[in-house]
Amino acid sequence: MSAPAMSPAPATPAPAAPGRLPLLGHAHRLARDPLPFIDSLREHGSVVRIGIGPSPAYVVTDPLLTRRVLVTDAVSFAKGGRIFDALRLVFGDGLATVGDGDTHMRNRRLMQPMFNKAHIAGRGEAMIDQVRTLVEAWPEGSSRDVFADMNVVALGAFLAAVFGTDLPDHMAVEFTTLMPAIMAGSIRQTILPSWISRLPLPANRAHERRVARLRELIDQAIDHHAAAGDTASAQAAGCPHVAAAQREQPEAGLFKTLMTADVRLTREELQDEAITLLQGAVETTGTTLAWTLFELTQNPEIERRLREELDSVCADRPLEYDDLDRLPYSLRVLQEAVRKYGPAWMVTRTTTRDVDLGGYRIPEGADVVWSPYLHQNDPAHFTEPDTFNPDRWLGERAPSTRGSFFAFGDGRRKCIGESFAWAELQIILATVLRTWPRFEVTSRPPRRQAVITVKPDTLTMVFGK
Ligand code: HEM
Repeated sequence: MSAPAMSPAPATPAPAAPGRLPLLGHAHRLARDPLPFIDSLREHGSVVRIGIGPSPAYVVTDPLLTRRVLVTDAVSFAKGGRIFDALRLVFGDGLATVGDGDTHMRNRRLMQPMFNKAHIAGRGEAMIDQVRTLVEAWPEGSSRDVFADMNVVALGAFLAAVFGTDLPDHMAVEFTTLMPAIMAGSIRQTILPSWISRLPLPANRAHERRVARLRELIDQAIDHHAAAGDTASAQAAGCPHVAAAQREQPEAGLFKTLMTADVRLTREELQDEAITLLQGAVETTGTTLAWTLFELTQNPEIERRLREELDSVCADRPLEYDDLDRLPYSLRVLQEAVRKYGPAWMVTRTTTRDVDLGGYRIPEGADVVWSPYLHQNDPAHFTEPDTFNPDRWLGERAPSTRGSFFAFGDGRRKCIGESFAWAELQIILATVLRTWPRFEVTSRPPRRQAVITVKPDTLTMVFGK
């Protein structure tokens, strides 16, 4: 006789994290020590309820459940939640913040070609030139803020690839000062109760002013790019061969693909996409590179192997784009930095119905938090997670860790810029190493600071020949 069918156990309320305060919930923990707090949730269950102000949010601590949220049951966990509500004020309805649905699918299809391997390769040499110019300009022997430098270089590479190399200088300077301040303002709005963000406080006003300025600048960048393209097309009119050559010109950045797509986006939509790309691309890679350089100063053997690999591929000539495929160790070093430092630590979704997640009940309309940082530092999935070990990504060992590596997200909202990011990271790391045979830390060891990414709180270095 067959056993009677068992109905699944009814879902129970998710355990609550300790230390909740009236009105604030756990906002004080998220503001004061967010990474130890997020890390500590693992011991309370695979889904843990926290309070952000009076509203509950559900943090997923088991990577298998995160996979369900992002991939297998993504329809029940729509893009949204507090962090995207705050970011939407900056990005508008850009690809990263727009809700799931037709607009997202249309824009993703339109933007995908910008980031295919052939298009990125077409901008490879322009990126390398720009990065080399910036890195070679550092004066020898003076102490430098490495996080700031890496953001400037990442921004330079991004602008060269996406908008071309001829943007006015003041733009890059303003972008680099505005963006970290805007991101700090957005994360403040995410972790503090929303009534605080609505008060006419100086910090809230300053945030609004910065966002308005960023939009003005991005508008100028789009105009500039459009004008460069128009001149090129006017010169090329009537001659298909010249037109083809102009399309290959260094100034024709990747954004051109979007501006000339069959479906024309409005000016506001173009602005939203440009700001989204700028923000998505720069701090993520800047943070990763700053931590990578720090780890090299702590692990001389890893630095030695990196330099050896570079020397064997480039010998005495400058780096070329085609070299990147021949630098597997450099890729592993970067992947390990991305793993160890997140770089994102808090990403949200909103439930579209009542859901049973891992046996826990989550009501419709609730915020669900997933965290690449949390999973990628889980000792159950990454042995000795504090150890910087690029070889954990070697062939046979890698598959056991793949299911918990979410640095670029997964499913239909997975990072569109992943291939671009790896190319940019490799170019910048190789250029720093080839330009500067020596570098050492001059500050105390950095602590991890969770803003939008997990960045070093302080990190200065001197570079020498
Ligand atoms: C180390 C570098 C990077 C990391 C770790 C990273 C991480 C992520 C993550 C985790 C998501 C998914 C967010 C979610 O599911 O809600 C995402 C989405 C996105 N990223 Fe990246 N990113 C990086 C670099 C880039 C670059 C270089 C670009 C552009 C050039 C970019 C553009 C985007 C965009 C537009 C989205 C939204 C995609 C969509 O919703 O369809 N990212 N990224």
